[in-house]
Formats: sequence, C-alpha cells, structure tokens
Amino acid sequence: MIGQGAGIAIIGSGSAAPAQVLDNNNLAQLVETSDEWIKTRTGIGKRHLANPLTSLSELSVQAAQKAIAMAGIAAFDLDLIILATSTPDDLFGSASKIQGLLGATKAVAFDLTAACSGFVFGLITASQFIRTGVYQNVLVIGADVLSRWVDWSDRGTCVLFGDGAGAVVCQATQEGDRLLGFEMFSDGSQNSSLNLAYQGQPKTLNEEVAIASGTYQPVTMNGKEVYRFAVEKVPEVIEKALYNANLVVEDVDWLILHQANQRIIDAVASRLKVPAHKVISNLAEYGNTSAASIPLALDEAIAQGKIKAGDTIAISGFGAGLTWGAAIFKWGK
Ligand code: UT7
Repeated sequence: MIGQGAGIAIIGSGSAAPAQVLDNNNLAQLVETSDEWIKTRTGIGKRHLANPLTSLSELSVQAAQKAIAMAGIAAFDLDLIILATSTPDDLFGSASKIQGLLGATKAVAFDLTAACSGFVFGLITASQFIRTGVYQNVLVIGADVLSRWVDWSDRGTCVLFGDGAGAVVCQATQEGDRLLGFEMFSDGSQNSSLNLAYQGQPKTLNEEVAIASGTYQPVTMNGKEVYRFAVEKVPEVIEKALYNANLVVEDVDWLILHQANQRIIDAVASRLKVPAHKVISNLAEYGNTSAASIPLALDEAIAQGKIKAGDTIAISGFGAGLTWGAAIFKWGK
C-alpha cells in the first residue's frame, strides 16, 4: 500500500498492567474450574486485575508515558490521541482525560470502540491522519479493564480476561512508509456472539413518554462460535494484509495476535505456516486484555530484545462486533 503524503513510522511503545494478580488456583476458589482446565483450554495461567482505586486512564497514562519517552518526543508534541477501549472510566470517553493527565495540550483526543480489534483499528485510523499530512505525532492506546464487566460467577468467561494497557507513538516520516499493509472487517450479523450490552427496563416519564432505564450487563459470549470465527477469519485477514503489502508469510519476522486463547494462536500460526519461534504470546501471564493485548505483547517483545528495529511484524485483532483486522508494519525509526 503506497502512502499519498507522509509515511508512518512506529517509534515508541509502552505498556502497563496492574500489580494485583489472580492465578488459576485462586480462581478455582471462586468458580468450579481448575488450573489444568484453564491452562489446557486457553493457555492462561494468571491475570492482572485493577484494584478498585486504579482507573483505566491511569493505566493508559503509564503506558503512554513510556511510549512517548521511547519515541523521544514530549507529550506536547502529540497532535492526536486515539484511545481504543470498550471499558472507559466514563461513557463520554476517557481519551480527553488522558490527554489532560499527559499534558498533551496540543492534541485532540477521542475514544474508539472496536473491542479486541480496537488497537489494530486505532493504528490504522492513526495512519490515515498521518498519510494525509494532517498530523505528525499520534499516540494510539489500547486499554481495557474488563474485570469490571465480567460476571465473576460465570466460569465460561471470567477465567479468560485480565486488565492492562499498551501504547505506541506513530510519527510522520519522509523516509518510507513502515505501515506496509492492512485490512479490516465487521460482521454485525454475528453481533450476538459476544456482548457487553445495555439492558434497560421501560420507565414511564408521563402518559405519552417512556424511556429505558438500566445499565450495562456483564460480558456474554458464545465461546465456540467466537473460536470458530477467529480460526477461520484471522488467517484470511492476515493473508489479505500481506497481499496488500506485497509480502508473503515468510517475510514476517513476528506474528502478534490478539491474546484470546493459545489454541487460537497455535491454530492460526499453523494455518499460515508461521513457525512457533516467530509467534509472540504472553497469555500465560495476562490472559485476554482485549484492546490492550496486542500493544502489551508488542511492548514486552521489544523490551525483551526479541523485536528489533526493521523487523516486519504482523498483528491481528478480532472480537466483539464481530470485528477483525490485521496490519503489517516495520518496527522502529
Ligand atoms: O477477545 C474475545 C474473543 N474471545 C475468544 O476468543 C473466546 C474464544 N473461545 C474460546 O477461547 C473457547 O471457546 C473457551 C476457552 C471459551 C471455551 O473452550 P472450549 O474448549 O470451547 O470449551 P467448551 O465451551 O466447549 O466447554 C467444554 C466443557 C463444558 O462442559 P461439558 O458441557 O462438556 O460438560 C463446559 O461447561 O468445559 C466446561 N467449562 C469449564 N470447565 C472448567 C467451561 N468453562 C470451564 C471452566 N472450567 N472455566
């Protein structure tokens, strides 16, 4: 894919996870499950959970500050902040709060909701503003605190999720576009497979006017359907993004999928014929952190020295909506 204006370089990353940890054995005290079941069916060993005083904005700011520092810019240099989340502190959005906490006074900030595809969609959205020459420095955050929205008595969902945040800084460059290809999809006909839906009861305001009054209900999921969807659509969307990038699977140095289930990661890697040593996974430590999972895994792999400047990375997010997408990029300046 050829950029029309500036190219995009992804030059800073950061992440944050709450210190509090709940392992599978702890969880087995809450619901009828076992460490063995969770590990063999999902690959998850533990999850980090935000305590009652920790906000999504705080976790996001911690991740963002590290990404900004690695990029070698100041918060003031940011032109745009995109917060991909389904669990804002405030339904009106949390991006502006984060902008304020960072002191990114020049930046416009907004939330983007695309569940576990949120970070991929956010990165692609950011790239459009850079390619058109509108903005120079864009911060993309993926963050979620789904622990606040799962039913902790439902073993079908509560064992899966954890909290966290990850962020990247994208910068305009004239030295080649590092976002090599992408592709995104939605399928609303399968919307009921995974929801965190508002449910209200009718409330009569007067004889002629009634409204709904209620709140959002905990996550509901048809695990088998989402599993089938992911294993079918994720390899496809990565292949499409690679085609757009004029690359083949062998060109990919690292595969980072949304961290939902190790069996999904393994099945996708095997379909694409990506060898295990190129596949990044941190599910065992964090579980599924929704929009945070890809930037969290990316940041850890960079910090561990696995991912190096110039490496070609394929990322793919998938989840509620249903939504799914992939992006192929070269990391670093
Ligand atoms: O980011 C959002 C994207 N979400 C996903 O990607 C989720 C995709 N789906 C999955 O990862 C898997 O479907 C799950 C991990 C959710 C479930 O794994 P599964 O292999 O599809 O299990 P299942 O739902 O078919 O359940 C198998 C059995 C059932 O018992 P019976 O009916 O065979 O007696 C469940 O009741 O396992 C039981 N079960 C559990 N047992 C112990 C379900 N959850 C648990 C549990 N502990 N936590």
